[in-house]
Amino acid sequence: MNFLFSSLGKKIQVAITGVLLSTFLVFHLMNNLVLFTGPDNFNKMVSVLESIKPIIRIMEFGLLVIIVTHVINAIYLTVSNKKSASNRYTGSSETSSLNSRIMIISGTTILLFFIIHLRYIWYTYQVHLFAENETYYDVLLRDELGYLGHTPTAIFYIIAILFIASHLKHGIQSALKTFGFTEDSKWKVLYSGSVLFWGLIPLAFILIVISIQLGIIN
Ligand code: HEM
Repeated sequence: MNFLFSSLGKKIQVAITGVLLSTFLVFHLMNNLVLFTGPDNFNKMVSVLESIKPIIRIMEFGLLVIIVTHVINAIYLTVSNKKSASNRYTGSSETSSLNSRIMIISGTTILLFFIIHLRYIWYTYQVHLFAENETYYDVLLRDELGYLGHTPTAIFYIIAILFIASHLKHGIQSALKTFGFTEDSKWKVLYSGSVLFWGLIPLAFILIVISIQLGIIN
């Protein structure tokens, strides 16, 4: 049990929850790619998910626990790394303060993205705040703040997804090290292969947003 709360234990917790969150992202993307096949399929898919609500609720609760574990341990490790680095040497403070400023901006943007995404799309689905004859598909395409037909919201989504991509890139690099891969040739192959993950998945999410804006998904 003590191991779980040691520095290495916390690193492993961040890495494992990161892998689980990435798995969620793959399934979430697959669901949303159905948008390209038209409203009927998308609405049918969401209705099927609605019909197994108790299971979805348990999965959502699991997702919440995973996100909280990931964020709390990651913040703890960042703060303690920073403390021990500033005790060890005084050089390169400009680089580290730039890095931490970037971390703060990207972390805040991702958090804001989650709040907006859940507040508008997820909440509207849960409470069924639909206009007459409006479907799940129509809700996503609304030209209103918080939905993807609204250009400023779409731009914010693209920026947030780019931050998520850079977070995934950095996360995969750290997780490989946590799981014992050192910067040798095997690490290089794995790391180059990981571009398929942190590059392609965010790109596909961005394509969905752009397709809605261009009327390809309409
Ligand atoms: C084009 C981009 C995206 C679209 C169209 C989209 C669409 C949706 C929809 C329709 C829901 C409601 C599902 C339901 O209640 O049945 C939802 C929920 C959710 N989305 Fe997204 N999403 C996008 C990007 C993302 C990204 C990049 C993330 C995370 C990094 C994310 C995380 C979540 C989470 C955590 C939920 C709540 C859990 C759930 O009910 O599945 N979404 N999204």
